[in-house]
Amino acid sequence: MLLGVPKEIKAEEYRVAMVPAGVQELVAAGHQVLVEAGAGLGAGIADEAYLKAGAELTDAAGAWGAQMVVKVKEPLPGEYDYFRPGLLLYTYLHLAAQPELTRRLVQDRVQAVAYETIQLADGSLPLLVPMSEVAGRMAVQAGAHYLERPQGGRGVLLGGVPGVRPGRVTILGAGVVGHAALKMALGLRAQVTAIDRSQPRLSYLDDLYGGRVTTLYSLPDTVAAACAASDLVIGAVLLAGAKAPQLVTEDMVASMEPGSVIADVAIDQGGCVATMRPTTHSDPVYTVHGVIHYGVANIPGAVSRTSTFALTNATLPYALVLAREGLAAARRDPALALGVNVAGGRIVHPAVAAAFGEEAAPLDMAL
Ligand SMILES: NC(=O)c1ccc[n+]([C@@H]2O[C@H](COP(=O)([O-])OP(=O)(O)OC[C@H]3O[C@@H](n4cnc5c(N)ncnc54)[C@H](O)[C@@H]3O)[C@@H](O)[C@H]2O)c1
Repeated sequence: MLLGVPKEIKAEEYRVAMVPAGVQELVAAGHQVLVEAGAGLGAGIADEAYLKAGAELTDAAGAWGAQMVVKVKEPLPGEYDYFRPGLLLYTYLHLAAQPELTRRLVQDRVQAVAYETIQLADGSLPLLVPMSEVAGRMAVQAGAHYLERPQGGRGVLLGGVPGVRPGRVTILGAGVVGHAALKMALGLRAQVTAIDRSQPRLSYLDDLYGGRVTTLYSLPDTVAAACAASDLVIGAVLLAGAKAPQLVTEDMVASMEPGSVIADVAIDQGGCVATMRPTTHSDPVYTVHGVIHYGVANIPGAVSRTSTFALTNATLPYALVLAREGLAAARRDPALALGVNVAGGRIVHPAVAAAFGEEAAPLDMAL
């Protein structure tokens, strides 16, 4: 198979879809890989490293001309003209929020496999987990930064020092993002409270961390009390496929000490804090009721090198299978089958089809 790796063109996107080690594995398996010159620079990977791994350098049109294109973010309108029947596209797509892109993928009969819908039998989403792991850790790092006085924060050191109490961190939603944030906050020696709606999840964390973490069931009064007493609140709730539940009201925000910080990682699903709106890496925070709000919607982009390696560790195994067998691999791999969003001019993923009021085509018909 001929694979292409274009440079990402979305604003503030510095990741690349394949690292040189991935190229090496694909080349060893008998494939040919074309990488757009400069594609890896945002993640600190020079063109020479790709050449050494066995790739050929090309331009955007060259990379998109391959049989299988591996990307990070969904194609932007400037890239739609590269679509053609049979092109195998493997990337994050989030089609439910992209009617025009979906229309073009269907019309141009592209075979589109979305990272975010590849799903294992236990319901987990293996190609979303690595970015959640990054975002949870980063939320604590960003929170610690904005708690510093020169950043407008309370001047609290999360870890405290001997004789001075540590900072207090509340984590709303203790799933993948929340647990990653919890580990980071504990590592800094902060005082951590984790709030979730899932009793098994709270029991798991209680068993794992014993008295080092306070676990609380998610109810309005527990959330209100925890927020009022926190230096840093991290939003990390998720209701699969739905808007995030709004747990923190404006009154709760107003009850926090001036200079406290809220980092709402769930902002990509609408956020769980009434006063939160999406922000960017170039303008990450704003203040409401004296509380610093951090609502960056693509947190992993800030640590593009770590995120690139974490993402490609997870995407490469499926890339190898797709390169070897094409979309036919989805027939025997149910996780990969769920990743197929569009094929043969039809939407085949039920949730994507439902988002446009359509019926999904059976995958077998589309292959
Ligand atoms: N901003 C970013 O850059 C970025 C990056 C990665 C993930 N995210 C987002 O972070 C959010 C969390 O992702 P995740 O992978 O941790 O999801 P997850 O499903 O692993 O965890 C979500 C947790 O929220 C809990 N929850 C649901 N309703 C709740 C409620 N009412 N009160 C308390 N807890 C509740 C669930 O029980 C679960 O434990 C998602 O919206 C995801 O899209 C954002």
